[in-house]
Amino acid sequence: MIDRLSCGLIPAKPHTALRLPGGRLVHEEMFTRGGFDGPFTCFYHLHPITAARRVTDCPRGWVAPTLVPEGVHPLRRRLYDANQGWAALASRPRGALDARLPLLFNRDLVVLLASPALEDDVFFANNDGDELWYFARGSATLQSVCGTLEANPGDYVLVPRSLIHRWVPREGEPIEALVIEARRGCHIPDNFRNQIGQLLPGAPYSHRDFVRPSGPIATPEETPEGPASLVIKRGDRFSLHELERCPLDVIGWDGFVYPFAFAIEKYQPRTGAIHQPPTIHTTFVGPGYAVCSFVPRLVDFHKDAIPCPYPHSSVDCDEIILYLKGNFTSRRGVGPGSISLHPSGVAHGPHPGAYEASIGAVRTDELAVMLDTFLPLLPTPDALSVERHDYHDSWKTT
Ligand SMILES: [Fe+2]
Repeated sequence: MIDRLSCGLIPAKPHTALRLPGGRLVHEEMFTRGGFDGPFTCFYHLHPITAARRVTDCPRGWVAPTLVPEGVHPLRRRLYDANQGWAALASRPRGALDARLPLLFNRDLVVLLASPALEDDVFFANNDGDELWYFARGSATLQSVCGTLEANPGDYVLVPRSLIHRWVPREGEPIEALVIEARRGCHIPDNFRNQIGQLLPGAPYSHRDFVRPSGPIATPEETPEGPASLVIKRGDRFSLHELERCPLDVIGWDGFVYPFAFAIEKYQPRTGAIHQPPTIHTTFVGPGYAVCSFVPRLVDFHKDAIPCPYPHSSVDCDEIILYLKGNFTSRRGVGPGSISLHPSGVAHGPHPGAYEASIGAVRTDELAVMLDTFLPLLPTPDALSVERHDYHDSWKTT
C-alpha cells in the first residue's frame, strides 16, 4: 500500500452506475482488507467476477510446509543452499503456481524458493497471505487485474493477498526467487510515513522508487485473451474455479491495493559513527517479522569503530539471510544463493578473524536480504535436503 492509484474508466462516485456507450452496465468489485476497515481497491469488470462454471479440488501448487524434527534439533546455526533448490525446480520446467519449494515456516509466514520457467496456464489468487517476491535472477511480467508489472533482477515484488494474477517469465536468464508468504500482511513500516501516509523525507525510499502496474489490460472494446481458470489457495489447499471467461476484464480501478515492484538498489542505506543494529536496514514489515536489505554502503566512521556486525544473541528472533552479491566480510563459506538460519537461543556473529579484520574498513559491497521473525522458523524436508551440515562448526577457533 503506497498511495492511491486510479487507472482506466471509473465512475465519479463508487457504487454508482458506470455504463459503456450503448448503455451496457459495468460490474463493480470491491476488493477490501481488514474487513471493510482497511485499504481497498474498486475494480470495474466488463462481466461479473462471480460467474464460475465449476469448482473442484485442485492438485496444482506446492505442498503444505511440514516440520522435520531433525531440521530443528539439535538447536544450531544452519546453512541452506538455495542454488540446489532452484536447480531442482528448474529441472522440471513449470509455471510460478507449481515451481515453488517451501523451506521454512511458522504461523506468520512461509519462506519458499521459486523458479518458474513457463508462463502460468491459469490465474492464481493466494488467500493465505501477501506474497513478497525477491528476484535474485531472471525477469518476469506479472499480469493481474491491476494491469502489467515488470519484475527484474534485484526487485522485490509485492503481490497482495487474493489478487488475481499470473506470472509470465521473460526469455533469457532463469528465474531464481525467494518468496515470503506473509499470512497477516506485508507493509511499509508505519514509522516511515507521516500522519497522512506520505513517506517521510527520512525514509529509506520515496514514493518515486516504487513501480506501479500499468493498466488496465481490458478496454470496453476488447477483453484480453487469457486463461479462464483461476486457482485459489486457502489453508494450504488449492481449489480450481472454472470461470466463464478470462478474469482480466477490468477496464478501470482505483484504490490503494495493487502489486508494486521495488528495486533493492534503490534502498537508501544508513550508516552510524558506530555500528547500527541490522534493523536499521528494515524495508518491509508485517506481524511477526521484518525484511531488511543490506546494500553496498559506507560503513561506520568512528575512529575506533568495528564495522563488522557485533556477535549477538537476539533472544526472541530467528534470522535468515539470503546472500546475493559481494564480499560477505563477516562470514566464510557463504556465497550467492546461501541462506543462513540463526535461531534464537544460539549466539551468532562474524566468523573468527572477521571481527578484527574489519577495523579500518571504509565500505562494504555486500548485497543480501534478511528476514527476522519472532516465532521460530521451522525447516521443511526440502530445507533439510539442501542443508550444509558443517556450518555451525565453522565458528570453531581451535
Ligand atoms: Fe544476526
